[in-house]
Amino acid sequence: MNTLKWWQKAVFYQIYPRSFADGNSDGIGDFPGMSARLDYLRELGVDAVWLSPHYPSPYLDCGYDISDYTGVGPEYGTLEDFKHFLEEAHHRDIRVVLDLVLNHTSHLHPWFIESSSNLDNPKRDWYVWKDGKDGGPPNNWTSIFSGSAWELDPKTGQYYYHAFLKEQPDLNWHNPEVKQAMWEAVRFWLDMGVDGFRLDAIATIYEHHDLPDHTLPLTPAELLNIKLNRSQYEQLMRFQTHQPGLHDLMQELRGLVDEYPGDRVLVGEDDNVAYHGTGDDELHLVFNFPLMETERLTPEHIRANQAIRLADLPPGAWPCNTLGNHDTSRVWSRYGDGEHDAALARLHLALMLTLKGTPFLYNGEEIGMSDLILDNVSQLRDTAATFRYQVFTERLGMPPEEAFNKVAASTRDRCRTPFQWNNDPNSGFSPPGVETWLPVNPNYATGVNAATQQDDPDSLLNFYREMLRLRRNTPALVGGEYLALNPHSEDYFAFLRHEAGTDKTCLVVLNFSDQEQAVIFELEVNQARLLFSNEDRQEQTLALDGLNLKPFEIVVAELVEG
Ligand code: NOJ
Repeated sequence: MNTLKWWQKAVFYQIYPRSFADGNSDGIGDFPGMSARLDYLRELGVDAVWLSPHYPSPYLDCGYDISDYTGVGPEYGTLEDFKHFLEEAHHRDIRVVLDLVLNHTSHLHPWFIESSSNLDNPKRDWYVWKDGKDGGPPNNWTSIFSGSAWELDPKTGQYYYHAFLKEQPDLNWHNPEVKQAMWEAVRFWLDMGVDGFRLDAIATIYEHHDLPDHTLPLTPAELLNIKLNRSQYEQLMRFQTHQPGLHDLMQELRGLVDEYPGDRVLVGEDDNVAYHGTGDDELHLVFNFPLMETERLTPEHIRANQAIRLADLPPGAWPCNTLGNHDTSRVWSRYGDGEHDAALARLHLALMLTLKGTPFLYNGEEIGMSDLILDNVSQLRDTAATFRYQVFTERLGMPPEEAFNKVAASTRDRCRTPFQWNNDPNSGFSPPGVETWLPVNPNYATGVNAATQQDDPDSLLNFYREMLRLRRNTPALVGGEYLALNPHSEDYFAFLRHEAGTDKTCLVVLNFSDQEQAVIFELEVNQARLLFSNEDRQEQTLALDGLNLKPFEIVVAELVEG
């Protein structure tokens, strides 16, 4: 346990800066607001925060369209405000990890403005420019957000490539000047003391050299209207993702980061374990997205996921689990069943904090924030959703109401609403009367807010605090090896975490059903000392050859040897 690095032991908490805390009452979150809430995070018990982009941006992809890599968006404050936040976070032993978007810039970044100014501009080759073919784009590649991945620049007559929105032109990473400019930005923040980066969209950094056409099953517009499964999607994007060169690039970035003291960390927004490299020469952490890519988190799914994931990791690589972020439906909404949501939310947290690997939590899940379904098109802030609405209505002829309902149910806005701090109008995020950048979910007034839950010992917030404390105080839950138990149980998920080199082993049992379960473990050890249960258990010693679980019960216990 003591040999583990800080990022192996830490629990990370993702802050969505625009929605966390509004310090200057303009309806948008900012650094003064975030700084004022650091004590809340300290009390919650998280060790590190990952901030979604805080840079200057026209905000067409909610900040993932950066127009200055070494600045702070004016709506979030100043560089001084950032430094103050960093310093105050570090005072509280909270590390700070920033978002780094390497694949593309904003179309308003000075680099792109120069690059698109004329064919001979020295920065022309900083982006991916190509001539069209047969009066159209260079090929039929699709953007992850919209129709064609190519946009014609009328001024110079060429097309530029964008894996995401047309306002997010892809950088040409084959150009060494691009790399140098971006590494300077990386050093800027590392010199200031940030603890690492979450790397956005690394899979799309390089494209297939020969620009081969895809065999598209549908038109790019039609593709927006169907949900592709993972393998269909991978097939569709095969010339646009995971191209040669990426591993060298990741190794180079790792080398740069490793020049700094303090074990700075790189977290990849990609689930491909190949980005661990040999286990110690590319990214430190790579999200286990397959765990969350399911309608229902069943014991069977989790067990199968762990078996594959842990076996696939290269030696020395460390797992990383998450159930939600700013791109997905909220954990509460996605995995709730409408009847036992509160119990399920507890189970899901227990799962995150007891599986082997670094857990990432998403702001607001600790108070049970749920998705907000917006009322009308004008409330949408997610440009990818606005674009889909346009394609549905204008190109596919869908009735507006049907198109909006589809978009509202899937827009990323639903999980990005302002944090619910208290019971006041605007939920204490902004003062009453201020128009917040996205509407506040009205359920803040029904107890889904931090202040109400703070004083309630049975609240979800206090459950989070208790579980985080338990994890912190139980080394086997942090560093222990994982071993699945009773592999055929459909209703409960049970496993051991054994701390190598010690006699400490934890048993974790999570009952995912609304029924009691009689569980028999066939272990050499027959007894365990109870460390935690969310039920009122009288006994402190559990008999493992006959353990009765209550519906949705969570049991964490330490095996008693001998
Ligand atoms: C992944 C980010 O999480 C998402 O929010 C963003 O839109 C895309 N990358 C493009 O940067």
